[in-house]
Amino acid sequence: MLEVSNIDTFYGKAQALWDVSLRVDEEEIVALIGANGAGKTTLLNTISGLLRPASGSVEFLGKKIDGLAPHSIVELGISHVPEGRKLFTDMTVRENLEMGAYPYHAWKQKEETLEHVYQIFPALKEREKQLSRTLSGGEQQMLAMGRGLMSRPKLCMFDEPSYGLAPILVVEAFRAIKSLREQGITILLIEQNVRRTLEIADRAYVLENGRVVLEGACDKLLQSDYVRKAYLGI
Ligand SMILES: Nc1ncnc2c1ncn2[C@@H]1O[C@H](COP(=O)(O)OP(=O)(O)OP(=O)(O)O)[C@@H](O)[C@H]1O
Ligand SMILES: [Mg+2]
Repeated sequence: MLEVSNIDTFYGKAQALWDVSLRVDEEEIVALIGANGAGKTTLLNTISGLLRPASGSVEFLGKKIDGLAPHSIVELGISHVPEGRKLFTDMTVRENLEMGAYPYHAWKQKEETLEHVYQIFPALKEREKQLSRTLSGGEQQMLAMGRGLMSRPKLCMFDEPSYGLAPILVVEAFRAIKSLREQGITILLIEQNVRRTLEIADRAYVLENGRVVLEGACDKLLQSDYVRKAYLGI
């Protein structure tokens, strides 16, 4: 479904990604793990068109997408739920969700998608008319995820959805991600919560200093000495 091949990405003269390749197949959950500053967000931003790779390519459903504008990439079916939520704080919950439905095909099915998002996150329906800045951190995270679904994506990319959540809400966030996959949405997930992530994902890539240093099936990675020492603290 998604094929990232040998990309190098720079901020000005500073190189942040080095020869990174990654693949996501249909209906997989693929995780991206790595320490702060490893380049995880940079990789998602390169896929979603916010950054352009200096070399290498990104293909989605057989079509080259590097170089396309971010909105065109959303239209093709990739949704990016960014780090730090980036909500429209002076808009209501419902208005934030509607903003996610701007691609033409999604706008036509807006009401139906909205009902669907409310089924996944009932707390959002109860707070439909509330301004998003008055939501709790966990509710804001649900809203960011819900908004990401409003474009009816085929591939959803989540950048640290459990960040800053209380343990009980972390469980909720992971439950939501699992239920999305059951509904046929493919997921690329960045997470610091490495154990939980390796438990729900199918495959994972480990990024260090802008390079992929390890990749494989999650059950294998959970047993790897390297991952256990560096990321699970055992
Ligand atoms: N806008 C920017 N301008 C310059 N350098 C940047 C910019 N954004 C990120 N970087 C640098 O690129 C590298 C990768 O950053 P990135 O945000 O992709 O890391 P990350 O893996 O998402 O980290 P975290 O877990 O802290 O979110 C870091 O060295 C960072 O300082
Ligand atoms: Mg990041």
